[in-house]
Amino acid sequence: MQETPLDDFFCLIEHEVLGSTNDELKRLLGRDASEGTLVVATQQTAGRGRQGRVWLSEPGNLFFSLLLRPRCRIDAAAQLTFLAAVAVAAAVAAVLPKDREVSCKWPNDVLVNGLKTAGILLEAFADNEEVAVIVGVGVNVAHHPPAEEVLYPATSLGREGATGLTPRSVLSGICAALLPRYREWQREGFATLRAQWLERAHGLGEGVVVHLDKERIVGTFLGLDERGALLVQQGTATRTLLAGDVFPVMT
Ligand code: BTN
Repeated sequence: MQETPLDDFFCLIEHEVLGSTNDELKRLLGRDASEGTLVVATQQTAGRGRQGRVWLSEPGNLFFSLLLRPRCRIDAAAQLTFLAAVAVAAAVAAVLPKDREVSCKWPNDVLVNGLKTAGILLEAFADNEEVAVIVGVGVNVAHHPPAEEVLYPATSLGREGATGLTPRSVLSGICAALLPRYREWQREGFATLRAQWLERAHGLGEGVVVHLDKERIVGTFLGLDERGALLVQQGTATRTLLAGDVFPVMT
């Protein structure tokens, strides 16, 4: 992947070490940071995943957070998770051997050949009259956590055969893939983005187990509704889920 310059939309702030790029960007949001502010760290000491999990953040992988001010209702802001996933998937697919399958796992993971390669942590805030969204992205470029330390088995771009990458070159590719899709989402709404995500959806039409806080739902992954909620068929009923961890049904 070429280390192409970033579009002027992005205002890059680079750090060697941060606790969490999301936390640093949240601090900058408190100082009225502008849309496109992009915080990158070589290493994070307190990287966060979804549901309060730890995101292991050693040098060699990519950790960044992007500030968007999408001028939408706060409930529509969650759709930006799918924007980030589709952009990461497109950028990752462009640097991998063609036989690797790049897919999106609801709600916020990018997989390569079924193994987690990137995760997204989206945090939305009401900032005065506006909605501000921090899109935090971690990509396993050079290495991945061992199976015993994660909920879902992982891999890295290096392990899957990508060569000559740096975290910065992967960042360029993601930013280039994200910006036009963000503009399109602002112009046209969620429908196109939803279709793009579904084209890469992992396990569509297959059996899934969804872990909720106090319940496990077993059914068939039917798709996404018009807001981005997961649709799971259970017998004749369709469950609409706004949160949860999805796993394949083991046969
Ligand atoms: C997940 O899969 O649970 C989401 C992981 C998100 C990790 C990224 S790394 C950059 C940004 N800063 C953080 O502390 N988390 C996100």
